Amino acid sequence: MSYFNYKENELYCEDLALRELAEEFGTPLYVYSKNQILENYRTADAAFGEASHLICYALKANSNLPILKLLAQEGAGAEVVSRGELYLARKAGFPPEKITYAGAGKRDDEIEYALKESILSLNIESWEELSVVSEIAQRLGVTASIAIRINPDIDAESHPYISTGRRINKFGIDRDRVLDAYRLARQLPNLKILGIHAHVGSQITTVKPFAEAAHLLAEFAQELKAEGIDLTHIDIGGGVGVDYHRAIMHEQLPTEAVPNNVPATTVEVVHAILPILQPTGCTIIFEPGRAIVAEAGVLVSKVLFKKQTGKKKFVVVDAGMNDLIRPSLYHAYHQIVPVSLRTAETEAVDIVGPICETGDFFAVDRTIPVVTRGDYVAIATVGAYGFCATSNYNGRPRPAEILVNGEKCRVIRERETLEDLL
Ligand code: LLP
Repeated sequence: MSYFNYKENELYCEDLALRELAEEFGTPLYVYSKNQILENYRTADAAFGEASHLICYALKANSNLPILKLLAQEGAGAEVVSRGELYLARKAGFPPEKITYAGAGKRDDEIEYALKESILSLNIESWEELSVVSEIAQRLGVTASIAIRINPDIDAESHPYISTGRRINKFGIDRDRVLDAYRLARQLPNLKILGIHAHVGSQITTVKPFAEAAHLLAEFAQELKAEGIDLTHIDIGGGVGVDYHRAIMHEQLPTEAVPNNVPATTVEVVHAILPILQPTGCTIIFEPGRAIVAEAGVLVSKVLFKKQTGKKKFVVVDAGMNDLIRPSLYHAYHQIVPVSLRTAETEAVDIVGPICETGDFFAVDRTIPVVTRGDYVAIATVGAYGFCATSNYNGRPRPAEILVNGEKCRVIRERETLEDLL
């Protein structure tokens, strides 16, 4: 169910009108639905049924502390990729035994911090890292719990920038050498081998790459068993895609750009991998980020100007690529809808920000209901990889973030001020 709906042509997040939130807190403004996040997490968790599993929410998607606390209270684990994310995860209350740490480039101080925190698993991404973790663990007099990340060489069929599981990508150890990496790990001191890890990519819209990865991991677990290495967990990574075209529905919204294919859901993905992974007897770790938070957030922005140049009509809004970089970086599609639907008349426009870059756009040649100066628009499905990838580019303070729960809301991050630019 969606928690962003029109009521009498006014767009609401749960029981609060976005127009009123924009007037009270200013724009650009990130607004999140608490109940959408909870529902997404609980649905993914329930899909595992009785199977031994741990959902490690990928903090990189959205690491706002109250949102993290919400998920930690639900019993989720955390997937982190830096010292900063590990710090946030611990502050939010994720227990160390539910935290995994991936990343091709961990600094020594980051490895040391993770070892001192006794996290569930350091996911090792190279031969050199294996030796360095062993050395640091010896120096600290601790045992490092590890998994090795395998590069499965599977095509996630998503944007090349977020496809991580091909041999040409920097992540993990090649599948034909990973067995040797485990043999080395067994010999190195102060390492405890717990698992195996793969992450194929992000915004994956079919179950196929997950099923392929699951088969590969299950086969590997068998091979390792034959070598006397018994794994306790198999980490299938994250990457479940979301529907960027059907977030907000209303009969007045143009539908011609909406493709027919609907992305596979977390439930479908979990149901595809369970029969493959469950027979291994290992705990299944799943690291969704986007699928938990993306559809729970919108970015509300105000129309500053409309202008016509040459053959193009532009709607200039007060959010820029510094506030949401996905359209500029990946040509990502986000639905953009008027917060107050006043007319059924539509027009084709480019929706752009105020930044001094031609790449500062949210939509190109997009047909939307006519909006005019002073109107608010909502850019949908920005709860993941939205605020967390903001910057101060062009001297722009970052937007505020609001969490809505029914008829109540609270500011979960204050809008930055000019002083924050100093
Ligand atoms: N686990 C690992 C090891 C990852 O690298 C990632 C994402 C995830 C889990 C979570 O993936 P998700 O379930 O959110 O797809 N900025 C890009 C996405 C980058 C994803 C990087 N890794 C975007 O805006 O689409």
